[in-house]
Amino acid sequence: MNYKEALQHNIFKIISQSAKELNLDSYVIGGFVRDYLLNRGTAKDIDIVAIGDGINLAKQVAKNLPNKPQVQVFKTYGTAMLHYDGIEIEFVGARKESYSEDSRNPVVENGTLKDDQNRRDFTINALALNLNESHFGELLDPFNGVQDLQEKIIRTPLDPDITYCDDPLRMMRAIRFSAQLKFTIEKDSLNSIAKNCHRINIITNERIVVELNKILESDKPSNGFILLEETGLLEYILPELTALKGIDEIEGQRHKDNFYHTLEVVDNISKNTSDLWLRWAALLHDIGKAPTKKFSKKVGWTFHGHEFKGSKMVYHLFKRLKMPLNDKMKFVQKMVFMSSRPIVLANDEVTDSAVRRLVFDAGEYVDDLMTLCEADITTKNSIKFNKYHNNFKIVREKIIEVEERDHVRNFQSPITGEEIMTTFNLKPSKEIGIIKEAIKEAILEGDIPNEYEAAFRFMLNEGERLGLKVNKEQSDKETK
Ligand code: CTP
Repeated sequence: MNYKEALQHNIFKIISQSAKELNLDSYVIGGFVRDYLLNRGTAKDIDIVAIGDGINLAKQVAKNLPNKPQVQVFKTYGTAMLHYDGIEIEFVGARKESYSEDSRNPVVENGTLKDDQNRRDFTINALALNLNESHFGELLDPFNGVQDLQEKIIRTPLDPDITYCDDPLRMMRAIRFSAQLKFTIEKDSLNSIAKNCHRINIITNERIVVELNKILESDKPSNGFILLEETGLLEYILPELTALKGIDEIEGQRHKDNFYHTLEVVDNISKNTSDLWLRWAALLHDIGKAPTKKFSKKVGWTFHGHEFKGSKMVYHLFKRLKMPLNDKMKFVQKMVFMSSRPIVLANDEVTDSAVRRLVFDAGEYVDDLMTLCEADITTKNSIKFNKYHNNFKIVREKIIEVEERDHVRNFQSPITGEEIMTTFNLKPSKEIGIIKEAIKEAILEGDIPNEYEAAFRFMLNEGERLGLKVNKEQSDKETK
């Protein structure tokens, strides 16, 4: 088969020409070919294999390109990279690789194209297009990768035990591709992942997280997480989630399986947001439930304080996985911490003051919190389902109403501490805090509007209650 039409970008002609100048054969391989055949749009990355020195080829290509891009060389891996027209192009010399038991770093020897295809992860990623002038565009598919693309199958070119042992990250990649592309992992491959799952321990957390993120970003992340769980990988990567598995029963009282509930929440939220961090929040929203689970004869199963516990666990989990300990982590913590708040609202009559407090506490994230809580409704009881959704609709409407009127989302007290000090001739002291808190409470309760005049009058009353004297200038202001 010839796929010349996939190689219309002028970069391919330039690579072909450069390889000819060096008397080398060259091929485009991997994700670019796969995604072209899957019609997944134009790739941002291109992988080139040279039968010979890949680094030299990269340098020759750079010389022949109009903008003479810089070539980044990774000597240890025998690879080189350059950027051209917004595309990242990686060059490697065809190689044979053998790996040792305890490391990802292979022993590398020069090899043929077939050797290079053998060492790749999946048949669908081993497809190559010939860049040599005489065979330009010809497909080289030694493992029937095209058939696997059509049949939507993830299969390794070699015995899966070899492919996965060579590079255990591939176990995650198999599941990630299965989730992204909605492909099935071939049976022997899946068994091999289950058998070799412990070897994920030699992979760095950063690389694991890249795959986890891609699973979370897929249309229906539960597909990936169920595979991670069934193969045993999840236990190594996110034991906080596997701890949520199972249903306990004491004296006829059962709780739901919080693992499968969590996956339902992640799928639900993925229909409404593509925000990776909100999806992380959905994934972790109940992790505090395992360590807080208790049974009492009176009330049955409880998970008191699981939101607080869960938000603390988020920090440790992010730290362990070497994820960024930045605003994104704080966002996830906040979502987990507040994840039950709107549900409490949705159970009762929705009052203005409760909504005002919710908006005050969630601040700029209140809409995200509502999205999370709506996704959290997984009850199969349609009466309850409709009731919760209706109540959340009311909460959303009230949020807008309360926001327009009271502006508490990014609450700044209308009265500053300075003003309290001058009004009552105070030095920094605890009374200032008491008055500020009382003003905030009065606004959130709806006793006074979020306005300067009303808050000023309230402050004077509060000061009087505390036995403070108003200084002369201020009392003049009051009488005016
Ligand atoms: N590859 C591999 N084993 C890995 C990683 C990559 O065999 N652990 C090979 C595959 O042939 C893959 C190619 O290297 O197609 C490029 O890898 P990468 O850029 O990570 O993945 P893509 O297949 O391009 O897919 P994506 O861009 O979705 O990650």
